[in-house]
Amino acid sequence: MPIETAETRGPLRLGVNIDHVATLRNARGGLHPDPLRAAHLAIEGGADGITAHLREDRRHISDTDITRLKNELTRPLNLEMAATDEMLEIAIRHVPNACCLVPERREERTTEGGLDVIGSAKTLTPFIARLQDAGIRVSLFIEPDPRTIEAAAEAGADIVELHTGRYCNLALAHDAAGVAHEVARHAEAARVAASVGLEVHAGHGLTYNTVRPIAELSEIIELNIGHFLIGEAIFGGLPAAVRRMRLLMDDARNLYATRRTAKARV
Ligand code: PXP
Repeated sequence: MPIETAETRGPLRLGVNIDHVATLRNARGGLHPDPLRAAHLAIEGGADGITAHLREDRRHISDTDITRLKNELTRPLNLEMAATDEMLEIAIRHVPNACCLVPERREERTTEGGLDVIGSAKTLTPFIARLQDAGIRVSLFIEPDPRTIEAAAEAGADIVELHTGRYCNLALAHDAAGVAHEVARHAEAARVAASVGLEVHAGHGLTYNTVRPIAELSEIIELNIGHFLIGEAIFGGLPAAVRRMRLLMDDARNLYATRRTAKARV
């Protein structure tokens, strides 16, 4: 089956991260639940792509999962990984549609904070080039910070993925002023990134309640969402959870367009 791309799906793509299906499987060992089956169900619900993070400690996704996803998926695979020699070799062997480079610490529960692109430009630049030479698009997972975005462009990245974790934590804490500040930071970051020619993605911690203000930012063309959707799938199934998220994303984007048209008419 041909792979569907951004152009055939519309302006805001949803990448579904299936890591935590593997977390559940690994809690018991064995093969159930199967992340590949989850990927197919996410696509059935409207996912435009599948994201999986192959961690150094293999706490959820395994090497076999990556092989199966790459061989059997009908949508692009976004491989999240640390910028290490081991991961470079694996990525070049599999050639996913994109690699998202993330910081990784063994003791963290999830990816905390974005990449230090300014501090590691010397090693990141040739790493990015190696992936691109293999035909892989490269994304950097970063804080919504204009200086980091400029460094990402200088390092040759194709994409930046804005880390929405702080925004989501403030929303969970009902900190309205903090949320407004973070949304403004994301809006500015998305604008700067697009202006220097980077494709803009965002993700981390997004839920039905927090997706809207991020989905409204017109420069953002992809959201990557995992933990919340897999959690919701326990109650209502994965296709239904993905379908509802898509609906909220699409609604946010249409509203934005409507508001902009109304403003232009004044
Ligand atoms: N984007 C990146 C780069 C991530 O590392 C993660 C978490 O693995 C996500 C998006 C998705 O975050 P969540 O699982 O909280 O939705």
